This record gives sequence, structure tokens and C-alpha cells, in this order.
Amino acid sequence: MLKIKKFNNTDKEFSELSRIDNLINHDSISHPEDDKREWQIRDKSLIRDRLLLYKNKLLIGVMYYSQGRDQNKRTTFFTLNIDPTYNTKQNQELLYKKMLEQIKLFKSNKMLTSIYKHPNYDKLKKFLIDNQFKVVQTNREYICDITKIDLRMHQPLIKKLELEGVRFYDSREDMLDFPNHYKKLEELEWAYSQDFPIPDGIKHTRPPFDHYMKLLNDYYENNYGAHIIAAINGKYIGSTDLEVYAKTEPHKAWTGGLGVLKEFRRRGLATALKIKAIEILLKNGVTEIRTDNEENNPMYKINVALGFKPVPFSLDFMKKINY
Ligand SMILES: CC(C)(COP(=O)(O)OP(=O)(O)OC[C@H]1O[C@@H](n2cnc3c(N)ncnc32)[C@H](O)[C@@H]1OP(=O)(O)O)[C@@H](O)C(=O)NCCC(=O)NCCS
Repeated sequence: MLKIKKFNNTDKEFSELSRIDNLINHDSISHPEDDKREWQIRDKSLIRDRLLLYKNKLLIGVMYYSQGRDQNKRTTFFTLNIDPTYNTKQNQELLYKKMLEQIKLFKSNKMLTSIYKHPNYDKLKKFLIDNQFKVVQTNREYICDITKIDLRMHQPLIKKLELEGVRFYDSREDMLDFPNHYKKLEELEWAYSQDFPIPDGIKHTRPPFDHYMKLLNDYYENNYGAHIIAAINGKYIGSTDLEVYAKTEPHKAWTGGLGVLKEFRRRGLATALKIKAIEILLKNGVTEIRTDNEENNPMYKINVALGFKPVPFSLDFMKKINY
């Protein structure tokens, strides 16, 4: 018998959800403890939930969904993962229709999800297309064996920037006692992140500072790879952060973000930030970086120049809801 149950955030559920996710993940491994922590520190002012599909006592699928913030408060972001053995149109529809009922609560008028151009997502892709979802953004995805990068080759660039007064720091290791460090960091990241390409109809939104700090503290405690800041005369002008999921893949770092303030672009800062991060990651035993960017973002030129290789792209799908 098929049944959709409410999520009660029990340890059993977290571990079963990771099991399902890992049947679909093609190049990452979910761990229940990471998921549980992330769930505990979520912003509880936004509606966020999970619908669990059981066949008798066996979990066979999950719909993760959440409401966007501020101008995106009527947008639903979701992920639909179903055990491949049970990934039928009927089961997809059960979870999808249940979510449609739930998101009426915040009068959702738009839904957004992301999948990879990889066979594990083919059935879901068909379901999305059959339900009139449209591709609204394509993202390049890359991997890089950082042990192969010739770091010496990039030292002249770092020297040039240092002569211009730029300093590079590791946020967690060097900067925690700098005056107003976290405020300056949050302001920097908010300034450049507004230039990240996102689909039309979605807005960049700024989480409250206390939520930013919750996420940052969790990152520094549990998934720290490297968080490099470029500064000039005390002004923060660029940064990059990379996370390592040590419980599953300690050799691999995932790029969170990278950006440079507008007036400091085209001077090599993005490249230098990457090199500085790679030096630290290598020292800590990390050998691989995974990253992504919107297909036309100039960042891809920097990645290719450093030796990043393409892996299956990702696609963002959107659909408007007309009541
Ligand atoms: C993308 C971004 C990080 C690049 O930073 P940057 O410090 O200007 O990059 P670099 O100076 O190291 O650029 C190195 C090379 O990348 C290419 N490049 C960078 N920006 C480019 C642009 N706007 N147009 C075309 N090529 C560009 C060029 O080949 C450049 O070399 P060149 O200046 O000698 O021609 C910056 O534009 C930015 O912060 N954008 C907003 C945030 C963002 O989109 N981040 C990336 C997604 S995670």
C-alpha cells in the first residue's frame, strides 16, 4: 500500500532519506548527520517541509520543498527524489500533487527545481516537461584534480596584486579578531552575490544577519574547506568559500561562491582567490574541487584556464501556477 506521511525529523527518517538521495546522486554522497544539522538550523520563518512516500513500511520517495524569502515568498523550491525501482509516473504524481496542495498555504505562484543532464534524472526530466515546466537556466558543472595545477605558474599574479596592496587571508584561521569581521564579510558577499546570474522571475534576497551567522558558524565548525578573503587597506573586495563534507568525501571540496566587487574586477583577483584556496586545500589533503556556474558566466573561462573539466551540466526548471 502506498502512503504519503508527514516528516517528523527522526533519526530513522534522516538516515532513510539519505539512503534514497544516494540512489539518485550521481556525484555526491548525502550523510544523515549533515542533513539533520542543516534542518535544525533552517530559517524557521519560512515554510519548509518534506513529504515521504512509503510502500508499506519502506520509504520509496521524498519531495523536499521550501518557500522563498522576501520577494520570492510565493516561489516554491523543490527536489523530488524517488527510488529508481519505484520511479513511476504514478509515484511522481502522488508526491507532486500533494506538494501542490501544501504550497497553497503561501499562495505559491511559481515552482523551481534543478536536475542534472545525467541518466539518473531522465524520468524526472520527462515528468517536468510533461507538466509544462520550462528550462530557465543551464549551468556548467566542473571537476578539477588540483594536484595537477602548477601553483608556481600563478605566483607572479599573486605578487603583482600584493604589490598593488591586496592582501589574502583565510577567514577562519586569520581574521576572526579583525574589527567587524563578520559584518564586513556579509556585506561583501551580499554586494557581489547580486551579480550571480539567476533565472528571470527570481530575485536575490538577503537573509537576516543572525541567520547568516548561524550558517557561517555551522560551516566553520563542520564543513570548512577554505574561506579566502581579498582585502585592500582593510576593505574587503573579494572572497571565495569552499566546503568539505568530511563524513562522506574528505578529499573533495565544493565551491560555495566566489565574487569580486565590481570596481576591482578584471585584475586577476578571482583567479588569485582560487589559487590561494587551492594552496590551503592541498595542505589539508583535499585533491579535488567541484564547482558550477551559469553557462555564460565569465567564471567558466577562469575554471577552464585552471584545468577544470566538465561533468554533466545542470538545468533549472520553472513553472508558473495559475489558480
Ligand atoms: C566572475 C568574477 C568572479 C570574475 O572576477 P575577476 O576578478 O574580474 O576575474 P579575473 O580578473 O581573475 O579574470 C580572469 C579572466 O577571466 C575572464 N573574465 C573575467 N571576467 C570577465 C568578463 N566580465 N567578461 C569576459 N571575460 C571575463 C577573462 O579571460 C579574464 O582575463 P583577462 O582580464 O586577462 O581578460 C566577477 O565578475 C564577479 O564577481 N562576478 C559576480 C559574481 C559571480 O558571478 N561569481 C561567479 C559565479 S560563482
